[in-house]
Amino acid sequence: MKEIKTIEFKDDILYLIDQRKLPIAYEIFQCKDYRDVDFAIKDMVVRGAPAIGATAAYGVVLAAKEFLNEERETFFLKMDQALNILNKSRPTAVNLMWAIRRMRRLIEENKALPVEEIYQRLREEADRIYEEDIETNKAMAKYGNEVIPEGATILTHCNTGALATAGYGTALGVIREAHYSGKNIFVYADETRPRLQGGRLTAWELVQEGIPAKLIADNVAATLIRDGKIDVILVGADRIASNGDTANKIGTFMLSVIAKAYKVPFYIVAPTSTIDFDIESGEEIEIEERDATEVTHIEGVRIAPEGIEVYNPAFDVTPWENITGIITEKGIIKPPYKENIMKLKED
Ligand code: MRU
Repeated sequence: MKEIKTIEFKDDILYLIDQRKLPIAYEIFQCKDYRDVDFAIKDMVVRGAPAIGATAAYGVVLAAKEFLNEERETFFLKMDQALNILNKSRPTAVNLMWAIRRMRRLIEENKALPVEEIYQRLREEADRIYEEDIETNKAMAKYGNEVIPEGATILTHCNTGALATAGYGTALGVIREAHYSGKNIFVYADETRPRLQGGRLTAWELVQEGIPAKLIADNVAATLIRDGKIDVILVGADRIASNGDTANKIGTFMLSVIAKAYKVPFYIVAPTSTIDFDIESGEEIEIEERDATEVTHIEGVRIAPEGIEVYNPAFDVTPWENITGIITEKGIIKPPYKENIMKLKED
């Protein structure tokens, strides 16, 4: 397996693969302070729910480093402001808020310590978030591989690979596992308009790994499903409500409806850090709306007329009824989701 270092923290600089540039250029974006991290998340230098969480955690470390020489009171005040800014860098993926909550808790629990010590502990906590994510993905991949038949053709949407996480990936992690376990799988990757995470990023990862695959325009999926060409659909998640409703990249809901109509298994692959136990259903999930230029332009070139209005939600919500199972690091959750998701919280 080729190693893809999406996120790397070294000598108090956060290095990110610039996902706005792939696959045309492979460039590294450097974050020297938490404002750079806020920008990198907003502008999607880094994207994908678990990757955003780990990146934000390192943003907190950079903030702590910056404020080390402030008065104690000022240190805590400025840290609070930085945490609030990072927490709002994108609204839908709950892994971001989950990681910030972990970092905030650590500050509160260690408030009596010298700030240098708090900084050290924050650094260790960010490393833990990063490393745990890779382990979690590998555990999900093992569970997920159990539902992949020998010789399966798998359809996936958006990018859920090493680029969307600290490493290995969620849905694409299961695909990696199935491929390396010799199942002779074949993948169809949706290009995923408007930002083309499938066409630019998933296709790049598939080519790197030599996994047999074809890239399709999003509107091809229905035909493939109807024609019996897809055995299983695997997608990631940005936030899962406690009833199983799942927010993921725009277009996921549409796929789930077609999958249900043609009885094709439709799985979500996501770590438990993507579950928002505080919300009852998908109706409570804030859906990010992004800039009109994502739709009106491709690579900076205008493709739609001046003056046209645009509606550009980045995510949609798939109702739990359309989901065959949710593959997590703790096993595969099946309906009834409300009951089975809550059991995970008690763990
Ligand atoms: O807007 P993005 O590229 O951050 O959206 C990413 C997705 O929707 C992924 O499917 C999701 O984060 C799961 S990735 C492990």
